Amino acid sequence: MVKLIGKKKIKVAVFISGTGSNLKSLIKFSKQKKSPITIALILSDNKNAVGLKYGDVFKIKQKFFNFKNKTLAEKKILKILRNNKINLICLAGFMKILSKTFIKKFRGKILNIHPSLLPKFKGLNTHEKVINNKEKYSGCTVHYVNSKLDSGKIICQKKVKVKKNDTPISLAKRVLIQEHKLYPKAILKIFNL
Ligand code: GRF
Repeated sequence: MVKLIGKKKIKVAVFISGTGSNLKSLIKFSKQKKSPITIALILSDNKNAVGLKYGDVFKIKQKFFNFKNKTLAEKKILKILRNNKINLICLAGFMKILSKTFIKKFRGKILNIHPSLLPKFKGLNTHEKVINNKEKYSGCTVHYVNSKLDSGKIICQKKVKVKKNDTPISLAKRVLIQEHKLYPKAILKIFNL
């Protein structure tokens, strides 16, 4: 667990692989007075991740790590996290699975957002699965990361109604809007704010 000490903000690293819209919402949240966090680092396993641009826009340190050799990448990441005094990791559209060893080192300090009402529809292609399964509701979940995929303790969730004519794309869009609100909410919640 991460604890707030006085008024000092918790230093967060956000891990991304793609668009980074959740990263953007977290950066905006971090700039609010009520926010207990500051985004100190953006990490990506994808050199071309569009979201890396937010590093330039908001002047946040950004780093790319090649995950071809995962053990080495994680070793380097741990070092940079230590050097930057990072205390909390937010996975936001990060498409790599972190090793058990890595997760152990940051136990209780890694969060993830997933675009379904977990424990339903873990893994990839969530929206397709929801639609094919004729679910009435989908949604999103922020949870702690443990060594099993999308399975750690749930912090909070938001339901989204599935419409009759929804495609995976239209559903993803509506869920994403809720994700942007849910991640900041989850962070306030873990600090009892
Ligand atoms: C989000 O739907 C997130 O839940 C999922 O990947 C998507 C990433 O979107 N894991 P973005 O990169 O934050 O825009």
